[in-house]
Order: sequence, then C-alpha cells, then structure tokens
Amino acid sequence: MHKTELIVALDTDSLKSAEGMIEKLKGQVKYFKVGSVLFTAEGPAAVDLVHKHDGKVFLDLKFHDIPNTVKGAVKHAAAMGVYSVSLHLSGGADMLKACAELEKRPKLWGITILTSFDEYTLFRSGFRGGIDKTVKLLAAIGLENGADGVVCSPLEAHRLKAIHGADLKLITPGIRPAALGDDQKRAVTPAQAKAAGADFIVVGRPIIAAKDPAAAVEAILEDLK
Ligand code: C5P
Repeated sequence: MHKTELIVALDTDSLKSAEGMIEKLKGQVKYFKVGSVLFTAEGPAAVDLVHKHDGKVFLDLKFHDIPNTVKGAVKHAAAMGVYSVSLHLSGGADMLKACAELEKRPKLWGITILTSFDEYTLFRSGFRGGIDKTVKLLAAIGLENGADGVVCSPLEAHRLKAIHGADLKLITPGIRPAALGDDQKRAVTPAQAKAAGADFIVVGRPIIAAKDPAAAVEAILEDLK
C-alpha cells in the first residue's frame, strides 16, 4: 500500500512553544505545518526553526489574491526553502499558472473546500454545486494549471484518486483519532484517510493539545501502518 506521511500542524503562538513541540516529537515527525497563527506571530523565524531541527515545512498561508501578488508570495516562500505552500484553488487558473511557471518553487498544494465546511456553510458562501462537485471541479482546475497536490477532506479523497489516478497527491486535514466534537465537520481517523488514498495527513490539536504529544503521534503512526 502507498505511504501516508504525517504533517504536524504547529498551531502555536510562539517560537518557544513551537520549539518545545518539535523537541517533544524529535525522531518521530519529519513534516511540520507553519500556518497563519504561528507565521503571523513570529514570521519567517518559524520556518527557520523547523529547518534548524531538520524538518520540512508546509507553509500553509492559503494564498488567495491576484496572480501577480500570489506569485510574489510564492517566490519569497521559495527563498525560505519551504517544501510546500497552500493556495486556494478558487483563486483561479491564472493565479495557479503564474505560480507554477516560477523556476524554483515549492510544491503548490491547492485548497479545495475547507474541512470545517459542511453543505450548509458551503451553500451560505454562495457555492451552489454541493461539496462533492465543487471539490472535483476545483481539483481539476488545480491539476490543469500546475498544482502539485490537492488539499481536501478524506471523504472526497477516494473519488479524486479514482478520477485522477495515483499521481495526484492528496493532502488531508480533518483527522481525528477519536471524535473530539470541534470545528472539523468532515473528520475521519488516520487509517480511514490512508485507505481513502491520502498521501499526507495534517494533524494539529489531537497532537499539540494532547497531554503526551509523542504518544499521540505514536498512536497515529501505528494507525497508519
Ligand atoms: O487542529 P486540527 O487537526 O484541526 O488542525 C488542522 C490544520 O489543518 C489547521 O492548521 C488548519 O488550518 C489546517 N487546514 C484545514 N483544512 C484545510 C486546510 C488546512 O483544517 N482545508
């Protein structure tokens, strides 16, 4: 079976707590996600911190702007040496193409529909196709215009792999080892995400808010076997 990698979301407020978490997970985790919480608080130093500990960075700032602006941001992300960046596929084909044509660039991971959305929230945001169709449409726009992977819920992963084949990399947040009843409305277990075809799973609170983060990671890695 294909390999599913774990990305730990470093959704902490400071470099100090991020470093504490990285140290607790030493030897277990290779990929860390630096998102808007930590990046807004600490800036590029957060990326440097992960690199200092030999980790790879998924810079999850979910870019969504005019093509020239997003291209500029991705260029700076490339200079920081991050492994991947996220951008909203609803930013459109021209935005994606502008980033994809950069010579030296991180992997471009396109956000489809946030895993905190359910059918009702999607409808209220003006999308009329329903989650399944909208995710499929956005994933196709991504693949046609240079995205290297697609971020979606594991609930849509299986169908996307069936349509686009194993070459399509899938990144799935919304992972919950046990039901936590929080804002992730479309969550599944690590094993279910792997079975659905996820190449990467992104896990935040079940690890970083756990009493014993290393044990939480161990259980997730076991579930992925
Ligand atoms: O704590 P939790 O496991 O819910 O964290 C999931 C992480 O993945 C968060 O940092 C969130 O910003 C991110 N994410 C998401 N849904 C997406 C893309 C990223 O939940 N579609």
